[in-house]
Amino acid sequence: MRIYKMKNYEEMSRKAAIIIAAQLTLKPDSVLGLATGSTPVGAYRRLAEMHAEGGLDFSRAATINLDEYRGLAPDDRQSYRYFMQVNLFDHINIGGGRTNVPNGLAEDAAKECHRYDGVIASFGGIDMQLLGIGQNGHIGFNEPGTAFKKDTHCVDLTESTIEANRRFFGPGEDVPKQAYTMGIGSIMGARRILLLVSGREKAGIIRESLLGPITPAVPASVLQLHGDVILVGDEPALSLI
Ligand code: F6R
Repeated sequence: MRIYKMKNYEEMSRKAAIIIAAQLTLKPDSVLGLATGSTPVGAYRRLAEMHAEGGLDFSRAATINLDEYRGLAPDDRQSYRYFMQVNLFDHINIGGGRTNVPNGLAEDAAKECHRYDGVIASFGGIDMQLLGIGQNGHIGFNEPGTAFKKDTHCVDLTESTIEANRRFFGPGEDVPKQAYTMGIGSIMGARRILLLVSGREKAGIIRESLLGPITPAVPASVLQLHGDVILVGDEPALSLI
């Protein structure tokens, strides 16, 4: 694992964007696995700037997002599809057909999971998977549990994750209780993983994930078994390792 300890969120975001840009430069038809949440927003902003100012080219790339809330339409302001459009896709030259997010409105959850695994397979897997980490160690929406789930599945979100997500929703708005997520097998199948972490509140879980036992009780601990992980964090998040 390569670890970059950056001064603050801005520096972390800049470094992450440089690493993603390097990936795209070396392999313009890269398949990028992407994440939502607050952590990658700065990196996406920087990538959009690199596209506008330096012509960073996404035209041959494809993206596969980690997860989506079940029940939300793509144009729902809280959906992850909407998040990706607003934070990245609308600002770069990537065709809609080359961006993939689970369909939150699919009627049959099992079919949608199967379809999404087919999407990942059809691209030949993921070249670089961007990840954030939840305070309980979740990656994607693979919540702490008793077994690692390999493929895309529909999860019941834990109370702590629902609470953590509440900050993105308005007063009185219901926070979805289920989500589709890529499985641990697909994440671990990515040829390279770029894990971003920011903030003092993540310091404990990042320490546990990287230095503690490998266990489904801390889903991110499985990353210890991956041969090519780049961790970019800010000083507060990496203060305990
Ligand atoms: C989002 C995702 C989640 C987040 C995690 C951290 O697509 O898969 O696992 O990466 O919840 O979220 P933030 O970055 O908001 O702290």
